[in-house]
Order: sequence, then structure tokens, then C-alpha cells
Amino acid sequence: MTDETVPSAYPPPADFAAHANATPALQDAADADRLGFWADQARRLHWHKDFDEVLDWSGAPFAKWFVGGRLNVAYNCVDRHVEAGNGDRVAIHWVGEPGDSRDITYSQLQTEVCCAANYFSSLGLVAGDRVAIYMPMVPEALITMLACARLGLTHSVVFAGFSSTALRSRVDDAEAKLVVTTDGQYRRGEPVPLKANVDVALGSGDEAAQSVQKVLVVQRTGIDIDWVDGRDVWWHETVAESADFHVPEAFDSEHPLFLLYTSGTTGKPKGIIHTSGGYLTQTSYTFHYVFDHKPETDVFWCGADIGWVTGHSYLVYGPLSNGATEIVYEGTPNSPNEHRHFEVIEKYGVTTYYIAPTLIRTFMKWGREIPDAHDLSSLRLLGSVGEPINPEAWRWYREVIGRNNCPIVDTWWQTETGAIMVSPLPGITATKPGSAMAPLPGISAKIVDMAGNPVPDGEQGYLVLDEPWPSMLRGIWGDEQRYIDTYWSKFAKEGWYFAGDGARYDEDHALWVLGRIDDVMNVSGHRISTSEVESALVGHHAVAEAAVIGATDETTGQAIVAFVILRSDATDTGAQLIDELKAQVSIDISPIAKPREINVVPELPKTRSGKIMRRLLRDVAEGKELGDTSTLVDPAVFEAIRANRS
Ligand code: PRX
Repeated sequence: MTDETVPSAYPPPADFAAHANATPALQDAADADRLGFWADQARRLHWHKDFDEVLDWSGAPFAKWFVGGRLNVAYNCVDRHVEAGNGDRVAIHWVGEPGDSRDITYSQLQTEVCCAANYFSSLGLVAGDRVAIYMPMVPEALITMLACARLGLTHSVVFAGFSSTALRSRVDDAEAKLVVTTDGQYRRGEPVPLKANVDVALGSGDEAAQSVQKVLVVQRTGIDIDWVDGRDVWWHETVAESADFHVPEAFDSEHPLFLLYTSGTTGKPKGIIHTSGGYLTQTSYTFHYVFDHKPETDVFWCGADIGWVTGHSYLVYGPLSNGATEIVYEGTPNSPNEHRHFEVIEKYGVTTYYIAPTLIRTFMKWGREIPDAHDLSSLRLLGSVGEPINPEAWRWYREVIGRNNCPIVDTWWQTETGAIMVSPLPGITATKPGSAMAPLPGISAKIVDMAGNPVPDGEQGYLVLDEPWPSMLRGIWGDEQRYIDTYWSKFAKEGWYFAGDGARYDEDHALWVLGRIDDVMNVSGHRISTSEVESALVGHHAVAEAAVIGATDETTGQAIVAFVILRSDATDTGAQLIDELKAQVSIDISPIAKPREINVVPELPKTRSGKIMRRLLRDVAEGKELGDTSTLVDPAVFEAIRANRS
């Protein structure tokens, strides 16, 4: 195809549009009465007690949605589908990495959630207590989340790829009473320990995590584990033996459903608080309309891990509240080989496939002959999330995976927003490759300059949310002031939420998210703060100072590049030190935060006020011409940096 024949926008296929859940009436309804619109969306759920007021914004920026309403999130995700006669519908097609699988119907899910809820209650846990979940993608992880929701326990899922140090800080911050884990997990075909990380994290004696009373262990790999008597219990000896009947209690709409820790611009991760009624309303609404969900016929697959917000909202609460049938896949896309995802799509007839651009680019690298070897004709809708999708990857996704016949929804949102905010509606929007297009009905966003004035189409500005939305975060756990400072101070006068992203509208008023403008990196769709990695590096005895940047990377979006100044007494300065530093970051944070490249440099480029010029370091890392260096104390520093680059 020559450039002239490449369309700039792709309208939905006619047959898709004819049966789409979303019609232009949706936007009209939201425009006519925004809060009334959200009340209608909330009523897609079951409320044990109806709400009296849609939104109380009098305590801004602390919102209350669906005030006075009471509901049970797990009842909405499980029991009501059974009561509606859909108990035999498969909720989860679980696919294990080594090739084992399980199909779990809504009735079976109800039984398992009830058993877990009964066991958790027997431990004396009561609504409001926190539970840490440190698990791979096994069914028990979702069951645990739902059992917590059923009892009003606030879960805190910690990605199973995080280190024991990261787990400990999250357990301590949330004062979790229970930690749920597995003996081990599969990683690229090999069983590796997981409970061992919990043991290290929780410590013993004087160092022991004070809050934790029990560690509940699911047997997944059968590897040997250490056991702490009185603290550790097996799932199969406790939960599986518990009664399978449990009556759900209704909780206030604003009852905290979960905490999810995410990176900010400082070293300490923030525990983002999400509550019940508003969160479930918006995840459920967006799942229905953005993914055009048809419960009788669709098979949905979200490739995210439960350790991230995408896994919470579109692997658990969004799909299950809609009675969906979904895939939960335990492993990596190349286990045992690169055909894995496409085999799953073919076998289960996946209709709706939602992944991150980094995976699309990885598929591109592996070559189209891999997807071409499979019948992917069941697919009817594709989604993308987590980072800007470059137009080339978008077109490849559409042509090779979607056979030019599937609308693509590029969905912009954040851990903090809880649910999708900006996205095409698949039966309506003519999509442009690389653009998230427009705020959803009911959502209000603006692109503004520093003074809060809307920027003209074509110009870059700050993406702000100028009206509260139901699934918005309700705060940062234990730190109200940080919540206000982080999200509401840049446009305090206007009372707008600043998302941290730059964006622009193009000449057709399509919205393009350009990525973070703060010191947060996005590596394979994972959020990592530069300062978190810097503090891990300076934690090593040989490092005096560190600067970390996200350099553009063809596959992962951004890659972590570090520049370190060594202490004068550092003895080793060679490859072994670099390996040690990389290991230090893995231990402190996670292997996903390991820098691609660490450069030992004699100096860092600083302004006269002592600020590190990251923009210039990025230029160096990307091999670009240097931008303006006039504000530097010592422009010659770059010669030295370049000379030292490994
Ligand atoms: O920079 C934006 C980027 O991911 C950030 C949010 O990261 P996190 O809280 O980990 O949530 C990721 C999954 C929702 C945003 O500030 N981002 C997310 N989706 C997109 C995106 N950037 C561009 N386009 C997107 N569709």
C-alpha cells in the first residue's frame, strides 16, 4: 500500500455498527444530564439499598458517589448471574502455563468464593481489614479478590514479579492482616519460588511484619517451601474445607474495595484507594460499551496481570459484573512458544482481545507468520491499553490480528482513574491509528496550558479531568495531603485533576495522548518512577549519585537508562559492578525495573539550581543531537558522558 491509499480514519464495519451496544444516544443522554446518566449506569448493578444522591462533591477533592447506596461487589460479580439462571455459563476459562486448564462456571465460582469468604471470616477478619494478595494468575487469585469484596475486606494485590522488599513495604503500609500467596509460580516453563519471597518479606523475630497474622498458601507448583507453624496455612486444608454457603452483606457505596500501589514521582509508592459503588459502576459501564460486550456469545481476553489496575478492572470487576466469559492465562506469551496466545484465541473462540502495545510490537518482531498460522476469525474487537500505541503497531494489529475487520479501541486511563476514560466507542467512532479519540460519554476532559486555558487543536497541552467521575481514586492510603498535592495542586484554582500526561487534539479534534510529562517512565506498559530506581541505585555502597531516564525503545515503549557517579572509594568500576547494580534494582523493586543500560559517568548535567537535566540525558541515551545546553553549569560534561557510555 502506498501512503496515499492508507486511510487516516477507519469507520466501524457496518455489521458491527448495526449491533453495537453504544449508539449516539449514549452521548446525548450524558450531555443532557451527566449525573442522571451516571445514575442510570449505576442501576445496571444490583443495589441492596438504592442511593439517595448521585454525587457529593462538597468535600472536593474527596468525592462521594451514589451516596447512601449499599451494595455487595461480589454479589454483583457472581451471585446475581447465578440467580438470573446463568450459573452454568463459564465465567473463567483458565489456562495454566504448563498446559493444564480449568473451566469455572458462575455457580462454581460462587461456591469457591463462598468457601474463601467463610474461611476468611473464621480468621476473625472483619470489613475494613486489609488483605495482601501476592499471587500469579491462578483462579484462586481472583477468588481471593472476590471473597475480600464479599466481606468488605480491602485487598491490596502486589504484583508477583515484585521483590520481597517491595512486598514488605506494601504490607506494612496497609497493615495487612492476611497475606495470600502460592508455593511457587511458573516462569517461562520453570517453577520458581514465590512463598519464599513472602517469608523474606515478613521476616521474623524483632524484624517481623507486625500486622500479619496468617499466610494462606495455594499449592501451585509443588516445590518445597519453608513453613512457619501457627502463621502458615494451606488453601486446600482450610478454604477448600470450608462451608460453601455464605450470605453476602451490603456495604456502603464508599466502602474501600481495594488499595493498589503505584509509582509516583517520588521514591515511595502510593496506595491508591478505590471504593465500591462508583468503581463498579464505571468498570461495568465501560466494559459493556467500550468492549461492546455480548454476554451470550463473547469470549473476552484481557492479557493484563491482576497485579496492575487493568487486571483489576478488566479481568475481575468489569467482566464479571457483566456476566462475561473470559480467559485468564497464567503465563508469558512465548511459553512454550510464540504461538501460545493465538492457540488460545483459536481454541476458545476469543472474540475480544485487550493487550498492551508493547506486546503488539513483540508480535510484530516475531513475525506475522505466527498469527497467520492460526484461525483468528472469532475475533471481532481489539483493544489496546497502557501506553501510546504507535500508528504502525496499530495498523499491524488491525491487519494481521484483526484481518481488517475488527474495530480497535485504544483506551486511555490510569490506576487513579480506575476505569477507561478516553476511548473510541467501537460501533460509532471512525478511529485514527494512534489516537484514543475522545472522552467517553459521562467523562469530561480538557487539554490546557499551564494557565488552564484550552490549547488550540494541534497544540500540545496538559490532559486534565475537569469533572469528577465515579471510579476516581478516593485518596492515597494514609496520606491525604499527598493526594491533594499530587493530583489537585497544579490546577487548584480550577479544581481539576491533573493526570500527569501531555496530550493534543488534532485538526479533526481527535485526542492524542502523548505520554507522561513527569518523571514517571512507562516500560512495557508498567509504571516505574525514575526516583524509585535512582534510590535503589544509590542504595548500593559504590554509588554516589544516580540519574535515571526512560529512553524510547522500539519494543517496550521506554527502556530504563541510568547514569551513575561512583563514590571515590569505589574499587570495582567494571562489568561486575554494573551487574551488581542491576541486581540491586531487581531486589529493591522488581526485575521489570532493571535498567537496560547503566553508564558510569564522572558528572551529571545540572542546571545552576542543581536540577539534573533529564531531557539532555535522554538525548544522549537516544543518540540524538543535544538540545539546548545553555542553562548547564558545565556543558562539557557531555563529552565525558559520551566517552564513558558502555
Ligand atoms: O501515561 C499514561 C499511560 O499509562 C499511564 C497510567 O499508567 P497506569 O496507572 O499503570 O495504568 C495503566 C493501565 C490503565 C497514563 O498516565 N497510558 C495508559 N493508557 C494509555 C496511556 N498512554 C497513551 N495511550 C493510552 N491508551
